[in-house]
Amino acid sequence: MPDFCESDLGFDPKGEDGGIRALDAHQTGHFAGRPAVSCPDPCQFLRRMPRSRRSSARRHRAALAVQALHGGVRMIPAVELRDVSWGPPKGQDILSDLGFAVPQGQIMAICGANGAGKSSLLRLIYRHHAPRSGVVRVLGQDLWQSRATAVARNVAAVLQEQPTDFALTARQIVALGRLPHRRGWRAGLSLADDADAGIVGAAMERMHLTAMADRSFATLSGGERQRVMVARALAQEPQVIVLDEPTNHLDIRHQLELLALLRGLGLTVIATLHDLTLAAGFADRILVLAVGRILADGPPDQALTEATLARAFHVKARIDHSGHAPRFAFHL
Ligand SMILES: Nc1ncnc2c1ncn2[C@@H]1O[C@H](COP(=O)(O)OP(=O)(O)O)[C@@H](O)[C@H]1O
Ligand SMILES: [Mg+2]
Repeated sequence: MPDFCESDLGFDPKGEDGGIRALDAHQTGHFAGRPAVSCPDPCQFLRRMPRSRRSSARRHRAALAVQALHGGVRMIPAVELRDVSWGPPKGQDILSDLGFAVPQGQIMAICGANGAGKSSLLRLIYRHHAPRSGVVRVLGQDLWQSRATAVARNVAAVLQEQPTDFALTARQIVALGRLPHRRGWRAGLSLADDADAGIVGAAMERMHLTAMADRSFATLSGGERQRVMVARALAQEPQVIVLDEPTNHLDIRHQLELLALLRGLGLTVIATLHDLTLAAGFADRILVLAVGRILADGPPDQALTEATLARAFHVKARIDHSGHAPRFAFHL
């Protein structure tokens, strides 16, 4: 098990890049909690990073952000939605008037009641649904002007439903993440070749799956299967990872580990989360959806107010701000 600390989850507002977070938010007009930099080699983060190197990685990211700000460089958003609506064929709109941009490297949580449209919104971002109107861009490219495999090289999705009838081993499932990188005649060959095996192995190690690599996927527990699906997404080496309720099947230790791992990747992460305390500790920014529209969008303490939660979930909420991260109590 890797060591982790609360500040990995963003619970420590006085972290080393705290000043940069404020500067970034102020000067760019985004509430980019993280410096707007992308990781040129996400694979390097698949290797374990000892605690001592994490702070130098933070300093490095902060320095890059300062360079970007001082040089006036405008980074292309990792994900951008403009005037987007979506509904099923012949049905009414389920998502309406969605517009936001997610800077590269930002960690965004999407919260909202059941049926609010969270999964549908993620489906727009990983190019499963085409918008009825408006445009969805990833790294500046309209998703529907790009080929599906090209999108899959940039965007990986970890979905709620995990098929249990796969006659594949955990390793073979993770190796599926390499398919978008196969070209031409290699595309149809065996699932893992030598060049990909290292990436697949590193992704499995990162998710503590090495010991069960050759187990049948169907024999794994729900939590283990979830970790396999995250490892598959890591093996895809995307710039953006989209996850639909990724902590659902995990015990609290694995929930915290997964969120710390996602923060440490240096990638853009967009995840739906039901647990508001986890979301507030994990995300730079929270988008609250209600009935397919954006109700709030901002840093956790601004997006998750008692008034917003009352409108989004139809409950009375009390928020305790006395600790590192807000704590929530609800009643009807
Ligand atoms: N393909 C679809 N066809 C018809 N209705 C859909 C479809 N996908 C989602 N919905 C409906 O859209 C609403 C939002 O669904 P969803 O995005 O799954 O919400 P959430 O993830 O927030 O619980 C729900 O009422 C759901 O039944
Ligand atoms: Mg959902």
